Amino acid sequence: RSAAPTDLVVFGGTGDLAMRKLLPALLLCEKDGRLAPTTRIVAVSRDGIGDADYRGKAEAAVADSPSVLRAGAVPVPVLRRFLDRLHHVPLDLDDPGDGWDRLRALLDAPPSGDGADPDAAGAPGAPDTADAGGRGRVYYLAMPPMLFGRICADLQANGLAGGGSRVVLEKPLGRDLESARGINDAVGAVFSERRTFRIDHYLGKETVQNLLALRFANMFLEPVWNSRWIDHVQITAAETVGVGTRHGYYDRSGAMRDMVQNHLLQLLCLIAMEPPASFEREAVRDEKVKVLQSLAPLSGEGALRHTARGQYSAGSQGGREVPGYTGEPGADGASSTETFVALEAAVANWRWAGVPFYLRTGKRMARRYSEIVVQFRDVPHPIFPGQGAAATSPNRLVIRLQPEETIRLHMLAKEPGAGELRLRPAPLELSLSDGFAVRSPDAYERLLMDVMNGDPTLFMRRDEVEAAWRWVDPIIGAWQGTDPEPYAPGGTGPRGAHDLLARTGRAWHEGE
Ligand code: BG6
Repeated sequence: RSAAPTDLVVFGGTGDLAMRKLLPALLLCEKDGRLAPTTRIVAVSRDGIGDADYRGKAEAAVADSPSVLRAGAVPVPVLRRFLDRLHHVPLDLDDPGDGWDRLRALLDAPPSGDGADPDAAGAPGAPDTADAGGRGRVYYLAMPPMLFGRICADLQANGLAGGGSRVVLEKPLGRDLESARGINDAVGAVFSERRTFRIDHYLGKETVQNLLALRFANMFLEPVWNSRWIDHVQITAAETVGVGTRHGYYDRSGAMRDMVQNHLLQLLCLIAMEPPASFEREAVRDEKVKVLQSLAPLSGEGALRHTARGQYSAGSQGGREVPGYTGEPGADGASSTETFVALEAAVANWRWAGVPFYLRTGKRMARRYSEIVVQFRDVPHPIFPGQGAAATSPNRLVIRLQPEETIRLHMLAKEPGAGELRLRPAPLELSLSDGFAVRSPDAYERLLMDVMNGDPTLFMRRDEVEAAWRWVDPIIGAWQGTDPEPYAPGGTGPRGAHDLLARTGRAWHEGE
């Protein structure tokens, strides 16, 4: 069904996120008929451009978007309809001029231009936070987090933060617990928690939601989903790209703040959480926050022992010379920012006591893939001849988020033949992209629809974000004064990451 009619206002409307992710996702929603006829997309930025120029920029951006290209040709009338929804309002926060008035005038004007709003009042699917006319209003802050509080205050001062509006905050929310609290307080002074949507696009990925279905719509996993049967869990998000043009942002963040504090810990929560009583906003988030609160604290020496961090050097990747992190555009000399993190976390509760959760993420790695590996324990006693080393730890559930979306259960089976009984690995595979004859949407499509429909289930609640910072802060603190280990591009990260597992006789699963 289509989302509720909405005015979606994107602050940072000409920025990287809007151009690379939000507009392509919205176009794909359009293509699938999921935008209400009168939904408008209003980009706000410092650029002094009008609607026509913005539409031109947007058209170029979506034409280049890999997710749009993957989804096949966009019929011309669909593209036209989409571009017609776009508006641009120039607004410099430091020197707004009449920017806020122009934004208000645009939002106050009826969407169809002829005074009629076919979606208005009582439209089916109108969210409970819609205004009196039945339209929702969403402010998407695709801006640096230190501006969030200020934009919210400005929205309020300009009479634009009324009861029907919601705000979407991009991650990372702050750079530590203290700054996250400050931002949450400032945003919370204007938008209630119910109207605040903290986005983590990993939660919008299809396979991530499938992980919830796998765990909680099926019976067979639950009895083995604990420390008695599971040896350890690995969560990897590997990227081939470097930091590209984002050095300014990245150098103040590093992989821990950019990926681990949010995406990787959210995945860990979904693996480790108890079954919620329902698939409802608070029920799911209540269970996730309990996992974050159960993470055994890591600090000082312990943090150093249980983590490895690295920074990519210059070298050859896939047959091409690439710069090191400190040679990227915008870099100015030495930096101790990490572009790779591996760590061992412990969820200290009954279900997971003694099961290490290994998390790893890095840029400029050999291959781009994100996956979760749940490694089951070995059989207590091998009975088949030749079951020795080759058959060590045969049972693994591998949940691949990208590039392909698959869930694979690795097991051993008998090799066909009348000769000696021999065992061979044989995966049971659920291919989510090929197995169902529908296109699987990009994470932002799903999440933007949820925002328009006022459903926060897949968004992070304030206490989740703060619990994640509470755990991450002392680790970052322990790293102060240490330098990340250099690693070659196109490989599997620094030595330290391998040592982290090797000392317990384990190894990273390098995908296949
Ligand atoms: C973003 C990070 O949140 O996630 C980026 O800021 C990273 O640094 C990106 O590249 C990875 O997302 P995906 O969906 O490509 O795995």
